[in-house]
This record gives sequence, C-alpha cells and structure tokens, in this order.
Amino acid sequence: MKRSVILDVDTGVDDAIAILLALKLPQLTVKAITTVSGNVHVDEVTESTKTVLGLTDHNGVRFGRGSSVSLRRTRFRAPEVHGKDGLGNTRKKYDRYKARIRTERAAPLILDTIKKSETPITVIATGPLTNIARAILKDKRTMRRVKEIISMGGSFGYRGNTGPLAEFNYYVDPDAVDVVARSGIPLTVVPLNVTETVPLKREEIVRLSGKSNSLISRFIYDVTKFYMEYHKRAESFNGGFMHDPLTVAIAAIPSIVKKKIQRSMLVETMGMYTAGTTLTRDAKGREKYAPVVSIITEINRRKFWNIFRNHLFT
Ligand code: BDR
Ligand code: CA
Repeated sequence: MKRSVILDVDTGVDDAIAILLALKLPQLTVKAITTVSGNVHVDEVTESTKTVLGLTDHNGVRFGRGSSVSLRRTRFRAPEVHGKDGLGNTRKKYDRYKARIRTERAAPLILDTIKKSETPITVIATGPLTNIARAILKDKRTMRRVKEIISMGGSFGYRGNTGPLAEFNYYVDPDAVDVVARSGIPLTVVPLNVTETVPLKREEIVRLSGKSNSLISRFIYDVTKFYMEYHKRAESFNGGFMHDPLTVAIAAIPSIVKKKIQRSMLVETMGMYTAGTTLTRDAKGREKYAPVVSIITEINRRKFWNIFRNHLFT
C-alpha cells in the first residue's frame, strides 16, 4: 500500500535529492512539503525547494514555509557545506524551472493535511524538527493521528558532525527533538552513524550522469559539486553523504532496514559542548524519564543504492 507523507526539509543538497526521490518513488504519495531553517535560512530553503519541485511532477503537493528560528537556541547554519542557497550555489542556473505554487504556513498546513488525509500520515523530517514540534505544541491531538515520524538526526556510539558528539539537525534544535520524542507519536530515528554508511563518491556521480542525460541527473551532477568539494576538504573523501535520500528510501521501502532497536532516548538541550547530543542506555532497560523511540542501526546498502540509481538516473 502507498504511504501518504509530509516531507519537512531544510534544503540542503541532500534534502534536494531526497525531495526528488520522494516524488519519484511509487511507494509514496507526497501530500505536502514544508520548509524550515537549518542548512540555510528558511527564505533560501523555500526558494530552493520551489526550484527543486519544478524539476519534476509535483501535482497535488501542497507547500508551506516554516520556522525561521529554533524553539530556543540561537541560529546555526551550514552554508559552507550546502552553499548560500542550499543548492551548492546552483539555484540561478535552474531558476527557470521554479514551481509556481501557493505557499502556506508550515505548521497549520501540516495539521490540515493530517486532518484531511483519508490514510494516516507519515512525517519524514530531513531537517531540524522545529516545524513538527510547533505543530505538536499547537495541536497535539491532531498530531497524534500521525502514524510515524521518521527523522534524520542524532548520532549513537559515534562522532558528531557539528561539534564532537552532535549531529547537525539535532544540534540546531534539540528542544524540538525533545518535544517530538515526548509527544507519544511513534518516532523512528535515522542517525548519522547509519547515514554515513552511504557515501556517494564523485566518480559515481560522473559515471551515472554520463549514462543519463535527464534534467534530474544533470541537476544532481551540478548540485553535488560544492557539497562534495566540502567533504573533500573536511572529510578527506571526494563525495558526499546521502543522509536525507536514505531517510526517504527507508520510509518508502522499510525492508532496506536490517536492524532497528527500541531505546529510551534523551537529547541534551543545554550543554555548552554537548547540545544536540543523543543518549541512550546500553542495555535494554528503559528510563522512566526518557521516551522510547526506534533507532535504525543497520541498513542494506546495496538495496538503497539500487533504489537511488533506478529512480534518479533513468
Ligand atoms: C543532516 O544535516 C544536514 O546538513 C543534511 O541535510 C542532513 O539532513 C546531516 O547531519
Ligand atoms: Ca537536511
């Protein structure tokens, strides 16, 4: 059965690819896309997301602009990773495709989409959880109708990519993570230690786009250039992680997941050096004060890459 989803993004090079994948995958019906400040300011995210939408069929998708600021923390962005426009500074080149779409406000749009949907909604969040938390704070009853929230974020037993231990999305708005985790809505976390098992090498993009000359393949070739140059400088590999496309693929094809565990999860909302860090107990024990969430720990990488290639490079 098809899954009805709301996709919440902070476009972002890997978010851009995740959006295209979500719109291409036959297992998903994308009912709404909402934007949030994260990699870049929400105004840039919103413009860039419209450009991405214009590259493919987005008929029937509603669109919403979301939060410009985190619930409590001061702003933190990553233009050095994703470019000033979040699209590796390529938006201008693709601007003529920009979707002409009505822009609503994200939190009310999320709630309205849930109320109107005949099938339960899954929320896929590939950015900070600010919009989702705001929707919960506004109308928890409606939000509890959500089947599952699948969130890219956190890092377990691994390093961080924003500070020593924290992953970017959860670092930007740890208070939002806390609200979402405690809401009682089933939460599945796709953490950094799993998403970094799917690095996409530059040479693979060159090979794939050499085979396919579609608009999407040309766009992916262009949009990943800046992102991959950043990884080359900062991570010493010529490529980029596909954090957000993996999160979308897991929502569409759950059999990609090889192992998932249930744990009590806490997120540090205050630490000077540790904000956004996610903690769990090692054992199966559950903490009374910490909500239980599902955490993906292992995926079938081959399956993911087949899905990636077959839907984006045809
Ligand atoms: C996450 O942070 C962003 O930079 C990416 O788009 C991804 O969602 C990875 O930590
Ligand atoms: Ca993202």
